[in-house]
Amino acid sequence: MRKPIIAGNWKMYKNFDEAVEFAEEVRDKIPSADKVDSVICAPAIYLPTLVDIATETDLAIGAQNMHYENEGAFTGEVSPSQLASIYVDYVILGHSERREYFNETDEAINKKVGAALSHGIVPIICCGETLEEKEAGKTEAKVVYQVTKALEGFKSEEVKHMVIAYEPIWAIGTGKTATAEDANHVCGFIRKTVGQLFGHDAANEIRIQYGGSVKPENIEELLSKEHIDGALVGGASLEVSSYLKLLEAA
Ligand code: G3P
Repeated sequence: MRKPIIAGNWKMYKNFDEAVEFAEEVRDKIPSADKVDSVICAPAIYLPTLVDIATETDLAIGAQNMHYENEGAFTGEVSPSQLASIYVDYVILGHSERREYFNETDEAINKKVGAALSHGIVPIICCGETLEEKEAGKTEAKVVYQVTKALEGFKSEEVKHMVIAYEPIWAIGTGKTATAEDANHVCGFIRKTVGQLFGHDAANEIRIQYGGSVKPENIEELLSKEHIDGALVGGASLEVSSYLKLLEAA
């Protein structure tokens, strides 16, 4: 049995006071970590404070991106060793917004996955197709390519602890959710790909989330599907009440 993982991706929302208030309110209300992994991926400048607030609770804190180098002349970037030094648990890598607006390549994402692993940070690796690719019947080819590149060079033992988020780009922030059947089909396809590349154990243990307009109204159906182990949630993770509802559904 794979433990569900619900991760909020706050993107570039919330000011400092709002972030603190949210974390202080949810930390004692979230379900036990025995049942579900509850994660908030916040803007980098809030991470140390949120990690402090979440200490000794079941709330886990993640970053939304990082560089793959540990240090250097990379103005504006945050490194894996810097995130590890403040005890960040997760990092989202290869989100479609990073790929589209910041020209993040599959090669860079692959290096970031390695950097996260070597610092004990769990990578949440994003993949997903555009509307044009979906309409052209290229969804499977796209996610297989992205997942294969992101996982290139790793061992089965490493891969099984990672998280993959299938986020169809046309469903992000649009209110259009993939049907639970379609999302499950693609997540199953990703699992099959992991199996072909890394074997049965890795395929069985890796957790695969769905992301794209997930909300309290649709999460139960999504999570009822065999291959969907959780959700990566943007808009609906910004309000305490809907974030808690998402966790309770898991
Ligand atoms: O990473 C989460 C995301 O891109 C989905 O956003 O607002 O559609 O839940 P949203």
